[in-house]
Amino acid sequence: MKKTLVAMSLLTAAGIVQAADLEVAKSIVKEKCHLCHGEEGEASSAVYPRLAGQNRTYLVKQLKNFRDGKRKSDTMNEMAAGLTDEQIEALAEYFSSKPALSHRVRDKMFAAVGEYLFKKGNKYSGIPACKSCHGENGEGNEQLPRLAGQHKRYVSDQLQAFGERARTNDNAIMHTVASKLTEMEREAVALYVSGLKPAETVTP
Ligand code: HEC
Ligand code: HEC
Repeated sequence: MKKTLVAMSLLTAAGIVQAADLEVAKSIVKEKCHLCHGEEGEASSAVYPRLAGQNRTYLVKQLKNFRDGKRKSDTMNEMAAGLTDEQIEALAEYFSSKPALSHRVRDKMFAAVGEYLFKKGNKYSGIPACKSCHGENGEGNEQLPRLAGQHKRYVSDQLQAFGERARTNDNAIMHTVASKLTEMEREAVALYVSGLKPAETVTP
């Protein structure tokens, strides 16, 4: 009985802390982040990444990497400069709890080229299937970013940055992949993932 009570009060305390954290995050977003990423992480401009539904641990890593200068971006290095670890945790919690979005893909034939690469890779140039790390539906996992529904332009920009070693906070994993992509493959796979739906269930 006593144990249950202790457990319950701990739960309540955690609940309150979390609610307070989300309020902290909300006010930072309103003040600093919404102009580019949107208030709900929807990022209506295609050059800024969508953060809604992005995985929590991945977001924490990126924000720390921006803050510590390990991931270079003039804008984001400045934005993350003053953030404490606690604020970063709160922001990651906030954005990861928002529903992920998706794009409508018009050029289905081109997206199919991307789908092939995503699911099977390219054995001729030694590119592994993206899904082997990013998940069947591009949903990623705690450490790995969600690609599903991300803006095509942002995905393609990041692939280029990994390939040229302009983005180096990936421990070279994405460099190995991206440096082998042709421009056509890069654009096709970016288009394909932009159209992946968050809750899409895979039927074998
Ligand atoms: C002036 C526009 C702007 C503002 C304001 C801004 N960002 Fe960004 N953000 C960017 C750009 C541009 C990138 C992509 C950087 C790159 O090319 O690597 C980015 C990338 C990110 C990423 C990495 C996403 C991923 O998928 O890897 C996170 C996380 C992020 N921003 C969080 C924030 C937070 C939190 C705030 C507020 C404290 C914020 N941003 C404010 C422009 C902005
Ligand atoms: C061996 C595992 C692995 C494979 C295969 C892989 N990735 Fe990744 N990818 C990663 C990791 C790890 C990261 C996160 C790097 C970091 O922490 O900054 C990442 C990050 C990314 C990002 C950055 C996302 C963002 O929000 O900024 C993109 C885009 C991406 N991968 C696309 C792809 C595509 C397209 C393929 C297939 C052609 C692919 N990846 C294959 C492991 C992989």
